[in-house]
Amino acid sequence: MNTSDLYPDGKEPKAKSSARHSVFVKELSEQDRHRILKHFLALKENDRLLRFGTYLPDEMVAKYVNGIDFSRDTVFGVVSSHFRLVGVGHLAFAPRQPDDDISDKDKIAEFGVSVSDDARGKGIGAKLFERGAIHCRNVDVDTLFMHCLASNQTMIHIAKKAGMEIFREYGEADAYLKVLPADAVSVLKEAVQEQVASIDYNIKANTRAAVKWLGNLSGTKGES
Ligand SMILES: CC(C)(COP(=O)(O)OP(=O)(O)OC[C@H]1O[C@@H](n2cnc3c(N)ncnc32)[C@H](O)[C@@H]1OP(=O)(O)O)[C@@H](O)C(=O)NCCC(=O)NCCS
Repeated sequence: MNTSDLYPDGKEPKAKSSARHSVFVKELSEQDRHRILKHFLALKENDRLLRFGTYLPDEMVAKYVNGIDFSRDTVFGVVSSHFRLVGVGHLAFAPRQPDDDISDKDKIAEFGVSVSDDARGKGIGAKLFERGAIHCRNVDVDTLFMHCLASNQTMIHIAKKAGMEIFREYGEADAYLKVLPADAVSVLKEAVQEQVASIDYNIKANTRAAVKWLGNLSGTKGES
């Protein structure tokens, strides 16, 4: 399925395209670890299966989140207007296997993504993926891998749209994308995206803190 199948007249509804312009993808850090955990724990059972390839119980999800090494991997996030993490993309780097002839570089990257149920269909998943790909370019990684269940039509649609090669086997799908080397435009594009997303993140964080503070004063509670 592509956009033209959904909108045969070639016109994507305005609300959808304008929603996409307000998706800001920010690099997350140690201070976001608890928010990342909260995001994963809120995923329904089937979404956890789609995200991790297996039904992970809460303790295993916590172990996964605690094991994220922010100095090695890069984690991206999108926050809602209430400062809730509604999308997380994890770009995990690993040394290239000696017998792997797909990449010429020392490292390869694997991308995993999830978007909260109530925030889907607004382009968050695609934006996180796009950011993962541009980041790979800028850190001299030429191949981005993704692994998902072959039944995951939404993710396969996003991957195909991004130009990924997809191989299906035994109910699973492996996809990879060759990314171009970095250039001045890719570096600038990512820097600007990060700066805009940081401003957005800080405004929402401060607003959330202010609402919480006022809520405490008046004895009501803001969204957590
Ligand atoms: C996959 C996932 C990340 C997508 O997030 P999202 O924010 O809804 O994605 P987007 O809004 O950017 O894009 C969704 C696209 O898939 C399309 N789509 C939605 N349902 C679809 C379906 N059943 N079949 C094919 N395409 C579908 C949408 O039309 C949209 O395409 P468009 O941009 O061309 O219109 C989200 O559904 C999710 O978290 N799923 C559970 C975890 C998971 O599957 N992770 C992937 C494995 S790592």
